Amino acid sequence: MAEFKEISADASAGAKLLNWVDNRFPASKMYKEHLSEYYAPKNFNFFYFFGSLALLVLVIQIVTGIFLVMHYKPDAALAFGSVEYIMRDVPWGWLIRYMHSTGASAFFIVVYMHMYRGLIYGSYRKPRELVWVFGCAIFLALMAEAFMGYLLPWGQMSYWGAQVIVNLFAAVPFVGPDLALLIRGDYVVGDATLNRFFSFHVIAVPLVLLGLVVAHIIALHEVGSNNPDGVEIKGPNALKDANGHPLDGVPFHPYYTVHDILGVSGFLLVFSAVIFFAPEFGGYFLEYNNFIPADPLKTPLHIAPVWYFTPFYSMLRAITSEMMYVLIACVLAGAFFGAVKTNLPKIVKAGVVGAAVFVSLLMLSIDAKFWGVVVMGGAVVILFFLPWLDNCGVKSIRYRPDWHKYMYGVFVVNFIALAYLGVQPPSAIGERVSQVGTLFYFGFFLLMPIWSRMGQTKPVPDRITFTPH
Ligand code: HEM
Repeated sequence: MAEFKEISADASAGAKLLNWVDNRFPASKMYKEHLSEYYAPKNFNFFYFFGSLALLVLVIQIVTGIFLVMHYKPDAALAFGSVEYIMRDVPWGWLIRYMHSTGASAFFIVVYMHMYRGLIYGSYRKPRELVWVFGCAIFLALMAEAFMGYLLPWGQMSYWGAQVIVNLFAAVPFVGPDLALLIRGDYVVGDATLNRFFSFHVIAVPLVLLGLVVAHIIALHEVGSNNPDGVEIKGPNALKDANGHPLDGVPFHPYYTVHDILGVSGFLLVFSAVIFFAPEFGGYFLEYNNFIPADPLKTPLHIAPVWYFTPFYSMLRAITSEMMYVLIACVLAGAFFGAVKTNLPKIVKAGVVGAAVFVSLLMLSIDAKFWGVVVMGGAVVILFFLPWLDNCGVKSIRYRPDWHKYMYGVFVVNFIALAYLGVQPPSAIGERVSQVGTLFYFGFFLLMPIWSRMGQTKPVPDRITFTPH
């Protein structure tokens, strides 16, 4: 037990209270460690708004969610009507609901920007691997949260979207049909599904999300933030002042609390504009078909997930039986290349090639639909491994060879193109483009150990570059 700190009898009542608390709970210690004496690099830019914005949106979602639950009915016969009731009769219900539905899309915009920042500045690299891994787990949990939340209004898209996605699990060999049954709780999406999705959406996944966010920030504060230069301000070689504070750092509070208020203001302006003037956002944030109550007997002509899932949905649709041959060729070529170009013992090389042949046979014998699911899941899982895929000599894009920038540029364009194709009805040309896009997406990551080491990096400065403004 830490020693009790005494305080002068003349101290103010506030100081006495704080001292009383501090002797029982590390309030001042935590405030110092995480805010007033948490030194962050002084060159944070626009991209560094998105972490605090993600926190803000998380709070918005939880608070508006609590109020929605007060009036929402998780019952297949009542759910749609209860949402209409919230929109029309509950005082300010429309605002709460639009904040929550717009918040879902805002969450993904903010998190995609946040992840992109991590990608371009190499924030996932040593010593921040766990910050990134917790982030990827957050992203997975967020996807589960959004998917299950979308069923709750019990509109046509809620219903049929869930039907399509849960049916995908049925493609898993042997256990698939039972797995789908377990998820649904019934032979079709129904009341049982709605009840369990509700339970996961309002309590189970938010608890996991909150726990992961805490772990994410603790891990970040353990090692300190990266910055647009990718220069470590706290490492053993970093320059420090007489008090041991990093010369290139500023205390998070007040510098970045004020900086983040600017980000929050900008965000709230755009967020409110959408809520008040375009809450459906042209059918992207709230799909038109979802204003029709769920009808298990009437399949909508075109079922598309909400925009934030569509890059991954496109990859799922790209895996046709024809595409399987391309994937098999990639697996075999990869194994062959590995066997020829590495110095592994012959027996290991033979093992690699043998395994590749076995996987290829497996790929031929199981339905392409299953491999589509594997590719879709793999597209998220591969992100976890990013810290160990990048071999570039420098962290930040600023000091990488110029052509690396084009790679990242093409990656973004490709991701957006996949997202666009995912909302479009299937077409021959769309299918081809999404197949090329899927290959590029995976090639970007799987070949990163090779391409990231190629090219001439620029010299990284000893200190961060910063011009006060
Ligand atoms: C609910 C979602 C999330 C919240 C609330 C959140 C919160 C934060 C906060 C507050 C920071 C520090 C401020 C900043 O650097 O912007 C941060 C940093 C970071 N986050 Fe997240 N985050 C979330 C999701 C993610 C995801 C999905 C990833 C990646 C897959 C990720 C990766 C990172 C990385 C690498 C850093 C360190 C960045 C650096 O130091 O340059 N985060 N996060």
